[in-house]
Order: sequence, then C-alpha cells, then structure tokens
Amino acid sequence: MFQSLQALPADPILGLMASYRADSNPRKIDLGIGIYKDEHGKTPVMTSVKKAENSILESQLTKSYVGPTGAADYNDSVADLLLGRTLIDSLGKRRVTIQSPGGCGGLRLAAELIKSANPGATVWVSDPTWANHRPLLGSAGLGIDQYPYYDYDSHSVRFEEMLACLGNIEAGDVVMLHGCCHNPCGADLSQEQWRQIRDISLKQGFTVFIDLAYQGLGDGLEEDVYGARLLAESLPELIVVTSCSKNFGLYRERTGAMTLIADSDVTTAIATTQIAAAARAMYSMPPDHGAAVVQLILNDGALRSEWDAELTTMRNRINGLRAQLVKQFKAANMDEDFSFIEREKGMFSFLGVNVDQVQSLVNDYSIYLVNSSRINVAGVNDDNIDYLASSLVAVLTA
Ligand code: LMR
Repeated sequence: MFQSLQALPADPILGLMASYRADSNPRKIDLGIGIYKDEHGKTPVMTSVKKAENSILESQLTKSYVGPTGAADYNDSVADLLLGRTLIDSLGKRRVTIQSPGGCGGLRLAAELIKSANPGATVWVSDPTWANHRPLLGSAGLGIDQYPYYDYDSHSVRFEEMLACLGNIEAGDVVMLHGCCHNPCGADLSQEQWRQIRDISLKQGFTVFIDLAYQGLGDGLEEDVYGARLLAESLPELIVVTSCSKNFGLYRERTGAMTLIADSDVTTAIATTQIAAAARAMYSMPPDHGAAVVQLILNDGALRSEWDAELTTMRNRINGLRAQLVKQFKAANMDEDFSFIEREKGMFSFLGVNVDQVQSLVNDYSIYLVNSSRINVAGVNDDNIDYLASSLVAVLTA
C-alpha cells in the first residue's frame, strides 16, 4: 500500500538544519533554525537547568504516569510566569493551564479545542507567520487565512491595514498573534497597538490566540508579556500557548503549555475535559523531564535567580548583536539600510534579500538562512561577522 506515497519536500526550517550539519565548509554559518547560540556558536545546557537536572536525578522517586494534562505544579508555575499571581487569582477557575509536548503540542491542542468548539472556525494568522503555523493548525482541520502584518519596505508593522482586516473578523473566528519577538520578522506590536487590538477584539467578538515562544528574549520577562496580560485581564476568552524551548534552552525536551481563559468557570471546566481527551487521543500525555526542570527552577530561589541572569545574558547578547550587525553592514558601505535590525526584537529579522540571493548565500558561501531571508541573529559571533558582511556585499553586488 505504501508504494502509492509521494515524497514530500524537506521542512523549510528543519531541512536547513540538516543541510548545515552535512556541510564540511569550515566557514559555514547557521542562521537558520531558531536556536540560541553563545559567542562560541554553541548551545550549551543552561547552568540552572543542569543543576535542576542533577537535583531531579537524585530526588525523583517514581517514573509513574503524569496524566494527559501534565504535572499540576508545573502548570501553576508556567501560568505564574505568563500571567503573574494577581491576574491568576483574579481569573480564578476561568483559567486553566495544561502541559504540552513543546509549544507545537500546545498549538495543536488549542487547534483541536477550537475545532471541537467551532468546526467552521477560520484561524487568522499574520502575513508572514512562522512556517509551521499553517501545517500545525491546518492539520487539525481548521481553515486558515491571513491578516496584513509586516511591511517589507519600511520594515514595520502594517498596523492600520491589520486593524482594518481585524475589523471584518467576527465571533467564531480566531486571530492568532505573536506575543513577542515575532517569528519570522522581529517586528512587535507596541503597547498602544496591543490596546487597540484589545478594543477591536472586544468590539468584534473574535477569539484571540497568542503564540508566546520567546518570553524573556525581547525586552524582559515582564515586558514581553504586556500584550498577553492585557488581553487576559480584558477579554472574555483567550488562548495562550507558551514554550520553554528557547528561554530555558529545553528544545529537545518538548516542554510547553496551553493556557485557556474562558467566559466562566463552567465553560473552562468543560473545555478542560475536551483538551484532556484531545491530548489522550494524540499522544496520551506529555513527557515529564523538561517540565520537572522548569518547575524546580521557577520554585527554587537560587535556581530562579541563576536562570534569570542566564536569560538576561542571552537577551543582552542578541540585542548587542543586532546593534553590531547594523554597524558592520554600514561599515561595509552597502547601499541598503539595515538599521531596522536594531529596532526589531528576539531571534529573528529578515535580511530583505531575494530568494536567489538567499540561495547564493547558502550554496556559494555556506551561510544558511530560510528562503524568506529570515536570519537567526544569535547565530552571529565575532568569528563569523566579517565573513557574513563580506559575503552579503558580494551577493548584493553580484
Ligand atoms: C524556528 O522558527 O526556527 C523555531 O521555532 C524552530 C522550529 O521548530 O521551527
């Protein structure tokens, strides 16, 4: 029966990771997949994570099942990181947080819930959005459409056009927003723009769904959840999916969560049974290790301070690299203005070069980036920045 299958193209992001690994060029640069790298180009296990792992190794008494909704103390801790204690208390049982296998698992759980509640729902994603949003949400059977978001010429948010589009979306549909550090463009909403989003959601009645995979890597742990908290306190319904892949460096441990806020305690209790059933049907229950690490770090004073300091170092390095890239590109006398890179947030920005130029960077210079020209800023370091700038000049002037 399998002879009828057709081969599929490689995933646009994961395929690049494989090609980079297979490249023997010693000057190769990985600006593809969104993984934090230090100044040596490495992605070491965070010290706070290592310490938590050692402690768990010593103290864990059982490997018994956790259940489809995951570990309750992890769920409380990540909800606290996202919303803060005051908001959690005021939302009470209208809010539930459920552990998921990474942010992807949380996105898929949310998609299943939306599909059960309204099979005809369309999820509106930003143009552009993360390459895996459509496959993840679409494979749950949801319709997908897009609202205008990024202006490639001015390198800023097309906010008026976005708002005009949202003004035509009605109750029953879902609008997905990036909580911070927009993937792929790095252009975030201002606080004033979040307030306008709140107002239009209240007016139109659509449901907001926030993907928050980079808390702490933009402006700070609290600053990066301004929008999520504003909407959580103001809207009758909200979904937020969080990930610990980047801010705890737990990529392969698949550690995430889905938070749902519904209009009443009863609705949330009912929705929880649906989410648990969806988890059970898809993967039974999430893996434990990453969640146990996060739970311990967030609840141990010393580990939490250490993690906070490590995350601050990562954020400062990314923001410093953004400034350094702008300076370096300017010094290379390119006609193009790259100053937008310094205004954008998180791991990603578009270089703004075309697909042929991207292909030349990949094939002729072993500099790996997504076809859209998205770069992972954290892949730059003192050893490769000159080669990156000179290669870019060569490609732009070819
Ligand atoms: C990315 O956008 O590169 C990351 O979120 C990793 C992934 O799974 O695509």
